[in-house]
Amino acid sequence: MIKRLCLLSFIALLGLLTAGSGRSSSSSRGQEVLSNNQCASCHARIANPLSLSNKYYEWHVSLHRDQGVGCERCHGGDPRTADKNKAHQQVFISTDPRSKVHPVQLPDTCKECHGAVVESFVESMHYQKLKASNLGPSCSTCHGHMASAVVQDAGEAAALCARCHNTVNGLMPARPEIPERAKEMVEAISRANGVIVWADRLLDAGQQKQIDLTEETKDLKSVRTALSEAKVDWHALKFDLVRKKADDSFDQGTRLKDRLLQKVYRQPAG
Ligand code: HEC
Ligand code: HEC
Ligand code: HEC
Ligand code: HEC
Ligand code: HEC
Repeated sequence: MIKRLCLLSFIALLGLLTAGSGRSSSSSRGQEVLSNNQCASCHARIANPLSLSNKYYEWHVSLHRDQGVGCERCHGGDPRTADKNKAHQQVFISTDPRSKVHPVQLPDTCKECHGAVVESFVESMHYQKLKASNLGPSCSTCHGHMASAVVQDAGEAAALCARCHNTVNGLMPARPEIPERAKEMVEAISRANGVIVWADRLLDAGQQKQIDLTEETKDLKSVRTALSEAKVDWHALKFDLVRKKADDSFDQGTRLKDRLLQKVYRQPAG
């Protein structure tokens, strides 16, 4: 029953999760790495059925494509051949337990590039439930099909957790505090992210004015690292730690932003 719920939640969420991301994909790096990728070239030409065709487009606008991550990195198969059957060897539909994108296999598949996140996820009760009975959420439950969707909005995060943790129909014990905490985490992460974007823009402006900002560039990197650690810890559901790291990142980021305002525009802190 929960499995069904999982799937439904996932489908409903896809729209939500991808909506806010607003990223444009035009990196030449991805283009270059993928220029001979037969999975992508053939799938780009598939017009029917609609759902299959759309999977290609989900990938096409994803950060993964930008970064040159081809279909085979997640699905397996051979991207060098234009022969469908040869290419599809070892490619299975995600509901097949042999598939690299089956929910239970996903952590291993993503681990290749997201080691720290997966190590953290493995510590969570979600992973234990997933391994034991396929009941916990997996990476794609929260990150969508091409696995590049990111929860942007606190309300979305709460709704995501509430699908399993605050059910009216009582599939799982109601835990209203879980969606509440998730909302708080996403707000803390998002605030820190906001100040990083601000500081980053000030750095750009300063560099255009040819001000020496070596020190500030270094500091911004460390603010980013703190936030990235918060995101990693989130996967182990260590809420207190996430909050602390996100707030550390915000505090450091705020001091940096004020210093930059001073240096670039001679504005007092504020
Ligand atoms: C020459 C065209 C072609 C190539 C090359 C190709 N595919 Fe496909 N793929 C298709 C078609 C057509 C389908 C629809 C189902 C079918 O006809 O087998 C499909 C279906 C799929 C599915 C859905 C599986 C399912 O059972 O619903 C996945 C996943 C997939 N391809 C991934 C890949 C990957 C990964 C590669 C490269 C390693 C690849 N494809 C290469 C044409 C291609
Ligand atoms: C970063 C990992 C990743 C990449 C890259 C990726 N996919 Fe997927 N794909 C997934 C995941 C995870 C699922 C299953 C998630 C779900 O729908 O619940 C999936 C599902 C699919 C499906 C639906 C059938 C099924 O097995 O559920 C198709 C078709 C598909 N992908 C095609 C492609 C094609 C074609 C490419 C390249 C153009 C590609 N994917 C690239 C992760 C990826
Ligand atoms: C071949 C390497 C590779 C694989 C495999 C891979 N990713 Fe990624 N992923 C990347 C890169 C590179 C980035 C962009 C740089 C970064 O933020 O790490 C990225 C970014 C992301 C992001 C951040 C998106 C954003 O908009 O900020 C998420 C979420 C993500 N990946 C999830 C997954 C999941 C889930 C899987 C497994 C289904 C997966 N990735 C598989 C390389 C990979
Ligand atoms: C219960 C929901 C949930 C699950 C399950 C989940 N994630 Fe995440 N993930 C998030 C949230 C929320 C964030 C932080 C959102 C943001 O970046 O604003 C995040 C962030 C990330 C990032 C970006 C980290 C960064 O430094 O920018 C990656 C990569 C990622 N997740 C990969 C994974 C992988 C791989 C799995 C499976 C092993 C997974 N996630 C499972 C919710 C989830
Ligand atoms: C697909 C269903 C599903 C989704 C979605 C989901 N969870 Fe869970 N979660 C579970 C299951 C199953 C358990 C194990 C509960 C148990 O056995 O008591 C669990 C356990 C937990 C626990 C440990 C509970 C405890 O007893 O302390 C926390 C914390 C948690 N989830 C947080 C979250 C957060 C935060 C989100 C949203 C970002 C979320 N979950 C989304 C299914 C889900």
